[in-house]
Amino acid sequence: MKRALITGANRGIGLELTRQLLGRGVAVVATCRSASPELEVTDAEVVSGIDVGDDGVDRKLVHALGDRPLDLLVNNAGILTRESIEDLDLDRIRRQFEINSLGPLRVTRALLPNLHRGSLIAIVTSLMGSMADNSSGGRYGYRMSKAAVNAAGVSLSHDLRERGIGVLILHPGMVATEMTGGRGISVEQSANGLLARIDAFRPQRTGTFWHADGRPLPW
Ligand SMILES: NC(=O)c1ccc[n+]([C@@H]2O[C@H](COP(=O)([O-])OP(=O)(O)OC[C@H]3O[C@@H](n4cnc5c(N)ncnc54)[C@H](OP(=O)(O)O)[C@@H]3O)[C@@H](O)[C@H]2O)c1
Repeated sequence: MKRALITGANRGIGLELTRQLLGRGVAVVATCRSASPELEVTDAEVVSGIDVGDDGVDRKLVHALGDRPLDLLVNNAGILTRESIEDLDLDRIRRQFEINSLGPLRVTRALLPNLHRGSLIAIVTSLMGSMADNSSGGRYGYRMSKAAVNAAGVSLSHDLRERGIGVLILHPGMVATEMTGGRGISVEQSANGLLARIDAFRPQRTGTFWHADGRPLPW
């Protein structure tokens, strides 16, 4: 693998994926809304001003990448807010759809010309988008928006199969980042697992859903 692009690379799982890919000698285009000091000190090519919830993001990505080929696209950027049936803030739910569901679609559409036979699109989703795993309810916007991006990932896998572009739908585990208030496994362990799933990709696996720890997951 020569070049990867990661969204939401300024912190959390995206930052650690950036570090680990750079450690393997991969050229990383690290996109973010605003760069962090931690990202700035890496050797990544930092592209700031990339808000995946913005319809104009396509133009910015095309401008930043030009015609350079991409071997790996990691749709990682995401948000989590908490809604219950008693506190159903529809604007917050819409915002999660914009970022978690439509964001990966916007980014993928913009970068399709840069992907080639053998390229892989990884979508960092959540087990909370799984119907089979939903045993506790609530979290309307997050669960629905992650289920929607899972559906998008499966459609992409069908649409891009003939072009030889694969799609993996990946749950990073419960990871200690700002999103979880620091609870969970380390970003190092999670990113290491995500990259192991990417390494293990083969065309028959396109459109499938995996835990970073190696377990296939139910929809
Ligand atoms: N942590 C977990 O336990 C866990 C579990 C399951 C799935 N996930 C998924 O893993 C991914 C990474 O999460 P994380 O744990 O690393 O969370 P995090 O530390 O909160 O990082 C989220 C990243 O997404 C970026 N982001 C948010 N809104 C954005 C937007 N509109 N445009 C571009 N970037 C945006 C953030 O950038 P800013 O700094 O600009 O906000 C940040 O870089 C997410 O998709 C999340 O849903 C995480």
